[in-house]
Amino acid sequence: MTDAIQAPRPDDTNAPDEQKKAHRSETKTRTPVEAKREGPTLDVVKSDERVKVFIRSANQQTGAIGYTEHGERHANTSADGARFILKSLGHDARRCEIAAVAAYLHDMGNVVTREKHAQTGALLAKDILIDLGFPLEEVATMMGAVANHEEDEGGLPVSAVSAAVIIADKSDVHRSRVRNPKSTSFDIHDRVNYAVTASEIKVSRKEKLITLELSVDTEVSPIMEYFEIFLPRMMLSRRAAEFLHCSFALVINNTRLL
Ligand SMILES: [Fe+2]
Ligand SMILES: [Fe+2]
Repeated sequence: MTDAIQAPRPDDTNAPDEQKKAHRSETKTRTPVEAKREGPTLDVVKSDERVKVFIRSANQQTGAIGYTEHGERHANTSADGARFILKSLGHDARRCEIAAVAAYLHDMGNVVTREKHAQTGALLAKDILIDLGFPLEEVATMMGAVANHEEDEGGLPVSAVSAAVIIADKSDVHRSRVRNPKSTSFDIHDRVNYAVTASEIKVSRKEKLITLELSVDTEVSPIMEYFEIFLPRMMLSRRAAEFLHCSFALVINNTRLL
């Protein structure tokens, strides 16, 4: 009997198959020629004064009407998540960058109104991105991704970038997003967010599976409450995963629920 050497599968990579979510954006130094060839990056967008002020104001205004944190922390977490998802599935570096930018900007429309913030955000982003030198095709992709991220505004995955933005946004549930200082007056959104002590996206390219893993303190919020407010988000995440030719799994406290 001889040992057979298996030929690598077409989708095998050198990277480990299952990767945990990266918590920090990657940075690299580019030469001016490389920068011109590759196009603007998330770092350029982040340092734009309009982006800084609009996201800061959007966060203040959503706070004033009782929403959880929607500022730079949520923008960065979403950007890291969207980049990580597409990178783990083998998409090219430029598409990963575009996904990170779209995810970073996805809630900026809250600077106008909460209602229809996805659509207004897409229109706000358009002029800024064009000014910063993004090619129109990339701007169009990012507009579609920003405009389609909200489940209660009829959002649907319309591109791989859009699908990654949806999953990254919906998976950012964590106690650090709660702004209400009084736990006695928590509403269900505060309670559910506060109950989540850890959240992590995992991607298995081999199994074509995207998993959201949460640790929930059930003394703060029963799992049922999570489903009460998050089921539509999870359904949209599943559609987004399907767009990326993957299944979607939700694991809470080590038990697979979806
Ligand atoms: Fe949003
Ligand atoms: Fe968001």
